[in-house]
Amino acid sequence: MHYENILISNHNDFSIITINRPTKLNALNKATIKELHQAFKEADEDSSIKVIIVIGSGEKAFVAGADISEFANFSVEEGGKLAAKGQKLLFDFIENLSTPVIAAVNGFALGGGLELAMACHFRVASDNAKMGLPEVSLGLIPGYGGTQRLPNLVGKGRAMEMIMTAGMIDAKQALSYGLVNHVTPQEELLPFCEKLAQKISRNSSVAISAAIKAINANFIDGVNGFEVEIEEFGNCFGTEDFVEGTTAFLQKRKADFPGK
Ligand code: COA
Repeated sequence: MHYENILISNHNDFSIITINRPTKLNALNKATIKELHQAFKEADEDSSIKVIIVIGSGEKAFVAGADISEFANFSVEEGGKLAAKGQKLLFDFIENLSTPVIAAVNGFALGGGLELAMACHFRVASDNAKMGLPEVSLGLIPGYGGTQRLPNLVGKGRAMEMIMTAGMIDAKQALSYGLVNHVTPQEELLPFCEKLAQKISRNSSVAISAAIKAINANFIDGVNGFEVEIEEFGNCFGTEDFVEGTTAFLQKRKADFPGK
């Protein structure tokens, strides 16, 4: 498929999706959200892609938020629909993807940009990155999951402060909050994420998908995560990856997982 707002580069075991609207600091308009949905779906369906890295183009921004020019005249109903559709198409979709997604936060990650990074399975930031949910400065609240995912990642008090002040935190503070897992110099961000992707891709992709489901279950109301874990753990015993993983261990060789 041809994309207007994103770039895709496929490597041996992983794919890099670059949000490419540098003149708008990669702000997420409707078209970009649709394209991202399609690109993540295609990558997830391609069994040769074991990890997806998402990054913003240029050196200034990961994503500077939802595209403000698109919703400035919206009604109550349109606003609700914007959030509902975006959450379903992109943010919840990524969080529940069976392929691991790493956010490479290479600059401003504001509003929908930070919400996108938070929907990814984990985040790595470059040392110039700035993160925040500035929506209340526009008379809004975060609408792409920010009020739910930020407290999960940094704790309720810090989330309250970040959202109420509409302020930005730098990469160092994000690291101390646990919002990002690592901070690198800007030029090392992508190579660092690629190394992580290669490390992940050596493991069983079937088991990793099961782990994503079990971990996510901890955050779904009314779902007992321990029960999901038990079920997913049991299912692993029926996979070819399990046979290969245990056989390779006993034969003192490296596993070569079929991903089934
Ligand atoms: N939506 C639409 N356009 C955006 C945008 C957004 N969220 N963020 C940046 N842009 C556009 C600017 O309008 C500008 O476009 P123009 O050159 O056509 O006027 C371009 O990107 C560059 O941004 P600019 O503001 O000139 O860069 P800066 O370095 O002075 O400031 C930011 C950078 C990130 C601090 C600033 O762009 C900003 O505050 N953006 C909005 C962040 C936000 O509130 N996000 C949450 C949205 S819900």
